[in-house]
Amino acid sequence: MDTFVQLGYLVSAALFILGLKRLSRPRTAVQGNMLGSTGMLVAVIVTLIGTEAAGIGIIIAGVILGGTIGVLLATRVAMTGMPQLVALFNGFGGIASLLVGAATLYPDLAEGVELEATDLATGALTIGIGAITFTGSLVAFAKLQELLTGDITQPAALRAANIGLVAMSAALGVLLVVMSGSIWMWLLALAALAAGITLVLPIGGADMPVVIALLNSFSGVAASTTGFVLGNSLLIIAGALVGASGLVLTLIMCRAMNRSLGNVLFGAIDAVAAGADGDRIYDGKVTSASADDVAMMLDTAAKVAIIPGYGMAVAQAQHAVRDLTRALEGQGKEVVFAIHPVAGRMPGHMNVLLAEAEIPYEQLKEMEHINPSFGQVDVAIVIGANDVVNPDARDDPDSPIAGMPILDADRARTVVVIKRSLSPGFAGVPNPLFALDNTMMLFGDGKAAVEEIITALADL
Ligand code: TAP
Repeated sequence: MDTFVQLGYLVSAALFILGLKRLSRPRTAVQGNMLGSTGMLVAVIVTLIGTEAAGIGIIIAGVILGGTIGVLLATRVAMTGMPQLVALFNGFGGIASLLVGAATLYPDLAEGVELEATDLATGALTIGIGAITFTGSLVAFAKLQELLTGDITQPAALRAANIGLVAMSAALGVLLVVMSGSIWMWLLALAALAAGITLVLPIGGADMPVVIALLNSFSGVAASTTGFVLGNSLLIIAGALVGASGLVLTLIMCRAMNRSLGNVLFGAIDAVAAGADGDRIYDGKVTSASADDVAMMLDTAAKVAIIPGYGMAVAQAQHAVRDLTRALEGQGKEVVFAIHPVAGRMPGHMNVLLAEAEIPYEQLKEMEHINPSFGQVDVAIVIGANDVVNPDARDDPDSPIAGMPILDADRARTVVVIKRSLSPGFAGVPNPLFALDNTMMLFGDGKAAVEEIITALADL
């Protein structure tokens, strides 16, 4: 039986690795997802067959209950709510590790059974990392769901408390290994739970997606140490894969925003008073256009670049954008999509939306490929994007987002910006692109505005 279980785990681990590899390209991502899911199915079946625990009925009931909740959550959540859902899932992973770690150690600790130092150390790590992941993820969820709003008044004090609590958790972990008493285990759990709260509470909303990727990595590390606690090789491998890929993703996101991880965790974007500054930048310089004006502009264009951002997701305008693309291509124009790595609110957000609207991958151009050719673009249509096309990030070293790589939309011959108002984007800073001479603002909801342009094009 053990050989069968281990062989099953080997198949699962291979499927996870192949799945991850395929997830790294949009073209093969769906296949990668299927491979990963199949790996998990094999892992669950093999574990259930190999398990000697009496409560198989409870396990199956748990799978059905958890599976139903998972399907309901995943099918009902809006695309824009996906980061919150991921945060919640990370939190569930954290609490699962915490509970498994505590349930494994507690009976022996309570009865005074002497445990190996390695068992105590892996148990302490599982409880500590699981607890931080759990409360940190809940705070991230509450922030993104706007259950926790308003400015945090004492960020510096919270950061200092966090350092203290992490140090205390580490010390309690050492005491648990050395003294082997259940009191240390409970105190460790409490300190780490508090550390999770103080870690995420002072971090600004703009950095929350990065924090979620980091917590995802933590949940993987906690799962991996849980694998050591339970002696389960597959959990060790799967947890390590999640831990490593979450960390890689975190670093990619930091690089795309030109921030260090330390700066994300312990500094905050100093958003300027966008209202006052915005007035100075925009006053009398913004050109407002109608859908008819934009259609006329497009009529004479040969090359069009569409730059989607978070607002396209909010407006669910991807299908209208596809229809506009087809209308323009029908008139013999070249249409490309310029994709910024952190456009939207999660990695690959724009790719997912555009794939949903069946826009071919070949038409999506990454930032470093399209930027040198913006000079040859006749019309750049910016739909619901803001920070990722803010020229201040490139040109003004004093800007709060200075150094963040941007799409050089301002270098196109004409820029059309579709959004509802002059409000700032996620970083909370004004955008001088809206006040440039070659920019036309088409104010309105993304989907409705694009549909109006399509009608206006047809009427020309
Ligand atoms: P943002 O800068 O957040 O701007 C989105 C714009 O969409 C807003 O200015 C808003 O303006 C507009 N909008 C909202 N609803 C709309 C609707 N229904 N129709 C039309 N427009 C609408 O978006 P971005 O350019 O995609 O930049 C992403 C930001 O998120 C960056 O700051 C990035 O660093 C941050 N971030 C992203 C990630 C990932 S992984 N994607 C991770 C961390 C941080 P109005 O209200 O005026 O309409």
